[in-house]
Amino acid sequence: MPKLLHLAASPRADSESGAAARAFVERFRQVRPGWDLDEMNLWREHLPEFDGEILQAKYARMGGRAFTEAQRAAFAVAERMAVRLDLAERVVISTPMWNFGIPYKLKHWLDIISQPGLTFRFDPASGYLPLLKDRPTLVILASGGDFTTGMSRGRTDLATPYLREALRFIGLRDVTFVAIGPTSGPAEHTGAARERAHRRLVDMAARF
Ligand SMILES: Cc1cc2nc3c(=O)[nH]c(=O)nc-3n(C[C@H](O)[C@H](O)[C@H](O)COP(=O)(O)O)c2cc1C
Repeated sequence: MPKLLHLAASPRADSESGAAARAFVERFRQVRPGWDLDEMNLWREHLPEFDGEILQAKYARMGGRAFTEAQRAAFAVAERMAVRLDLAERVVISTPMWNFGIPYKLKHWLDIISQPGLTFRFDPASGYLPLLKDRPTLVILASGGDFTTGMSRGRTDLATPYLREALRFIGLRDVTFVAIGPTSGPAEHTGAARERAHRRLVDMAARF
């Protein structure tokens, strides 16, 4: 059965990015009732610290050295997470903006799955090559401010360009970003931003 993977990166019960993802997923499932949904909450998932054996495994790969047994075991966690992503025909990432970037749990997941020989490879002649197949991917980004122009009150959105590059690096090029913001401030502003984003997402879900 084809699969939609939803990576949720907000720890908040009343998360705006999470609520928007739910609106999207609900419509998506109406349109494609046969699809499986894989919900991955990055705050509940065990993400191993990126030190010790898993770190050494990455350097072994980069240096073209064989794994030790301990490195192989540590690397298996990264393999399982990358496979979970690769098994999905569609991907939704819902995330807050935190300090202009992304929450550390989402960065942590990217650090785990971005591995040579797993999601990318390096060829001296052609450079870096992604190893995952491309697939439609949606990023829902909620921010306290309104970053629809890429800036908000002199602050720059670093989450969008970072995620675009990190996902492209492993092969996900077909990425659409939907921003929700402002999520703080007067209710008429937050309500309008939420409504605008949900309307767009529900519309997108039918064609995703
Ligand atoms: C640690 C932290 C950092 C934040 N940094 C920013 C920021 O840089 N810019 C911004 O507009 N809002 C910032 N916010 C506000 C959140 O982006 C906003 O509350 C958003 O709705 C969170 O997403 P969520 O509702 O899905 O949890 C921050 C919130 C937290 C908790």
